[in-house]
Amino acid sequence: MNLPIRMRRLRKNESMRRLVRGISLSADNFVYPLFVCPGKGIKKPIESMTDCFHYSPDAAAAMAQKIYELGIPAVLLFGVPEKKDSTGSEAFDDNSAVGQAIRNIKNAVPDLLVITDVCLCAYTDTGHCGLIKDNKIDNDASCEIISKISLSHAKAGADMVAPSDMMDGRVVAIRKTLDENNFVDTAIMAYSAKYASAFYGPFREAAESAPAFGDRKSYQMDIAASAKQAMREIELDIAEGADIVMVKPAIPYLDIIYQAKQRFDVPIAAYQVSGEYMMINAAAKENLIDRKAAILESLYAIKRAGADIIITYFAKEAVKWISK
Ligand code: PBG
Repeated sequence: MNLPIRMRRLRKNESMRRLVRGISLSADNFVYPLFVCPGKGIKKPIESMTDCFHYSPDAAAAMAQKIYELGIPAVLLFGVPEKKDSTGSEAFDDNSAVGQAIRNIKNAVPDLLVITDVCLCAYTDTGHCGLIKDNKIDNDASCEIISKISLSHAKAGADMVAPSDMMDGRVVAIRKTLDENNFVDTAIMAYSAKYASAFYGPFREAAESAPAFGDRKSYQMDIAASAKQAMREIELDIAEGADIVMVKPAIPYLDIIYQAKQRFDVPIAAYQVSGEYMMINAAAKENLIDRKAAILESLYAIKRAGADIIITYFAKEAVKWISK
């Protein structure tokens, strides 16, 4: 046979494949999520998420040091409180576990970026991401509290705040509060296209944040909403002052990541969420898939779709594999 074009020529060995691959993963792309709880000397396994732990602020700083040594540029902090109440007051207490962890981490590893998740769901007795009034989410009152939480994190030294509540107008409210208090350099990474996904299941156990009643469908995006709705969410967040926008979850929404990358000039982040993480872990545990290969395949897919930043619980392992 005299075929003029043979695609397989460029697949003949690993070096040739690397040469023509065009997509690469780097430690620079990753953000590692850390769960912070009140106390001292605590590293408590999270049952629903393999190899994830609740760290007290001191232990979080020790872990952050390891993350930095692996070459990962940033951590994303989630907090669990001592106690929950109707306004989620512990979230904006300057001495919250997250506040302490930010200070400890910045002390121990000043160059590691500290990003904080800003939300109410782990702190309110209702488990909702906003405040409840007359059995409904009070959007604008929620934005005020969310701005207060952001300010408290900025005061503790956070480099970036990441609102995950999906209230309308929270990005501009946060930007205004930060600027009025002279935190003009604190960046905002907005969870812009965040879907009401089933894939957050394991996380809700980790953050003890499952809603006590109802669901999150009146604020998080409809799983079947057209991509245009996601583009409007992202466009609005950029107009309100978001420095980085996020699509979440990642693998089920690669089309959204792709379109966002084509359309907008800000960095695009994608969050490979707890359910995506545990599906791979669970399948590997059953010997149904090759764990390492499946993880790398999922990360390449997210990168190829257009994510500049990948938030993933696999970050620590992945950087070891890709640096070779
Ligand atoms: C809080 C929040 C959630 C996640 C990140 N921030 C859960 C939710 O909205 O229910 C999910 C993270 C994950 O599943 O890994 N609003």
